[in-house]
Amino acid sequence: MGSGSKCRKTTCLVVTLCLVIAILLVLVLLAFTVFKPHPPITTVDTVKVEDMSLGMDIFSMSVNVNVSLDVGVSVTNRNKFGLEYHNSSAQLYYRGQLIGEGPIPNGEISGEETKGINLTLTIMADRLASNTEVTKDIASGSMPLNTLVRLFGMVKVMGFIRFHVASTSSCDFALNISNRTIIGNTCISKTELSS
Ligand SMILES: *[C@@H]1O[C@H](CO)[C@@H](O)[C@H](O)[C@H]1NC(C)=O
Ligand SMILES: *[C@@H]1O[C@H](CO)[C@@H](O)[C@H](O)[C@H]1NC(C)=O
Ligand SMILES: *[C@@H]1O[C@H](CO)[C@@H](O)[C@H](O)[C@H]1NC(C)=O
Ligand SMILES: *[C@@H]1O[C@H](CO)[C@@H](O)[C@H](O)[C@H]1NC(C)=O
Ligand SMILES: *[C@@H]1O[C@H](CO)[C@@H](O)[C@H](O)[C@H]1NC(C)=O
Repeated sequence: MGSGSKCRKTTCLVVTLCLVIAILLVLVLLAFTVFKPHPPITTVDTVKVEDMSLGMDIFSMSVNVNVSLDVGVSVTNRNKFGLEYHNSSAQLYYRGQLIGEGPIPNGEISGEETKGINLTLTIMADRLASNTEVTKDIASGSMPLNTLVRLFGMVKVMGFIRFHVASTSSCDFALNISNRTIIGNTCISKTELSS
């Protein structure tokens, strides 16, 4: 009698374990197929000049430019699950040289939503001063610029399987010095998925 109930207990345990493993396997399979996350799509919608001042450093004979740009970014989460993003930033380049940077505050986007993020990028004038092309570009009336927005995120599928996703958007535009507006803005977006 005693050994019989022990045997039934063991069978019960084995069956339960098998069931749990089967359910876990199905969930993992679903996570990597049906619910497989998509990286978010990051786009730069607007670039505006917020503030700009031009000066001349008579001692070093170099141009002194202070510019701050308002950059409007939108991030689309294509997943059914929420997306948490962290450690993301936007950078500003002038002829390949990093001249400005701004962090993107950590945040969350719920499933299938688009979130707008406004950033301010300020040109670090001291970095520009060492670039010999600046004077020429300013004299010609426009400065070619590039902004790179990089977003790193994590999608938790069914609460326990984490996928790391990343997306970047790189935009080329020019700053018209005389009327302080942005001319042209062509962007390329890229996405990445890694688990
Ligand atoms: C740019 O900003 C720096 C530091 O804030 C300041 O020293 C400089 O005078 C500014 N230049 C112009 C042209 O406003
Ligand atoms: C952000 O980056 C820092 C340094 O690279 C790292 O220590 C930290 O863990 C990162 N945070 C997240 C949430 O990944
Ligand atoms: C970003 O700026 C635009 C225009 O200034 C404004 O309409 C929008 O609500 C802002 N978005 C956020 C998320 O602050
Ligand atoms: C900048 O704007 C001024 C005034 O609208 C215009 O005359 C000039 O052609 C523009 N420069 C460029 C490079 O587009
Ligand atoms: C500035 O110049 C550009 C290029 O010539 C033009 O398209 C734009 O309308 C001008 N903006 C203003 C506010 O004058």
